[in-house]
Amino acid sequence: MRILVVNGPNLNLLGKREPAVYGTTTLWDIESRLKDRFPAVKFEFFQSNSEGALIDCLHKAMDGAFDGVVINPGAYAHYSYAIRDAISALQTPVVEVHLSNVHAREQFRRHSVTASVCKGVVVGFGSMSYEFAVQFLVESKS
Ligand code: DQA
Repeated sequence: MRILVVNGPNLNLLGKREPAVYGTTTLWDIESRLKDRFPAVKFEFFQSNSEGALIDCLHKAMDGAFDGVVINPGAYAHYSYAIRDAISALQTPVVEVHLSNVHAREQFRRHSVTASVCKGVVVGFGSMSYEFAVQFLVESKS
């Protein structure tokens, strides 16, 4: 099983960025934990601070190249119709994740323009949000 894990802007700073909100786990820690916990899954990891690069990466999941996609669009979740359209173009299931509970934060974070074109959304469980998303993709495939 192949899963693409995509992270948007500022998520490369995890571990150093607002630790009170996002914790001290780095993106590298999250990715290593996914590989350890799901050894049968072939992961591809991608992070970018650029909208276009994220869209190009999502296009790689067209035509059955991956069995599922996990995406943390970062702040793009709240306003990027271009990323929404890229997700919408995919046939493979996409799960949106957020480390923090966006519903308990500023008003602008409470709405995601990408969520409604995803299979589901996992919010507020820190790095475990990614693990729950992968678990869903693995169990729904088998
Ligand atoms: C985030 C939540 C977003 O609102 C924020 O812009 C991020 C991180 C999260 O994982 O909690 O960059 O996606």
